[in-house]
Amino acid sequence: MSAIDLAVIGGSGLYDFPGLENTTRQAVDTPYGAASGDVAIGDFAGMRVAFLARHGQSHSLPPHRVNYRANLWALHSLGARRVIGVNAVGGIRADMGPRVIVVPDQLIDYTHGRYTSFCDVEGAEVKHIDFSEPYTESLRRQLLAAARSAGIAVVDGGCYGATQGPRLETRAEIARMRRDGCDLVGMTGMPEAALARELALEYACVALVANFAAGCGDEAEISIEEIFAHLAAATAAVPRLLAAMPRH
Ligand code: HPA
Repeated sequence: MSAIDLAVIGGSGLYDFPGLENTTRQAVDTPYGAASGDVAIGDFAGMRVAFLARHGQSHSLPPHRVNYRANLWALHSLGARRVIGVNAVGGIRADMGPRVIVVPDQLIDYTHGRYTSFCDVEGAEVKHIDFSEPYTESLRRQLLAAARSAGIAVVDGGCYGATQGPRLETRAEIARMRRDGCDLVGMTGMPEAALARELALEYACVALVANFAAGCGDEAEISIEEIFAHLAAATAAVPRLLAAMPRH
């Protein structure tokens, strides 16, 4: 059994893990530099849970400046084997409006200029991971079963389009993403998922819809205040959802 039963990477609106008890904070040195912050390790619902705020505890790191490699490396080196990424997203599909929770099953990467692999350092072994299924299906199933048993509505499946940010997208960009088959848009889903796979971590995403993506809702403009209000509402369900996960 690993030292950590479940690791959680919190996105916008989730900077601490409510209900985590007997918490210690651990700074982890990685060959890739500093993680987004200390990892909080504690007891939650009968599990040892490690929690890391992706954007830093005071949300000081924009999506393109997050050190995804250091974050995944830190969790792996602490003994985590199951990782849940919690990500704020915009909804493209009509049934993915504000406050909806989605467990996506596919992704398309539109990001650029990020460190996307552990094998781009001198002397590293070159790995070509299979990424046909970017999320670990068994972990996705655990999340869906947990949602059912906790009475939390979630959408099973959907394609997450990862954009560079930090700006939101144009209507034309979202129209293109819709044509590409994206159902959701967010800025942090990649390279996190690919790096998790390189480390052979189980990884799945809980996507919290904060707004309809550009041109998909009724509003002419997307308001950041609204995004954070919807996010706070959707985030409230996350601890209940994770409490219903199998222990390991
Ligand atoms: N686009 C990209 N990322 C997001 C959005 C969006 O509309 N909403 C929340 N994260």
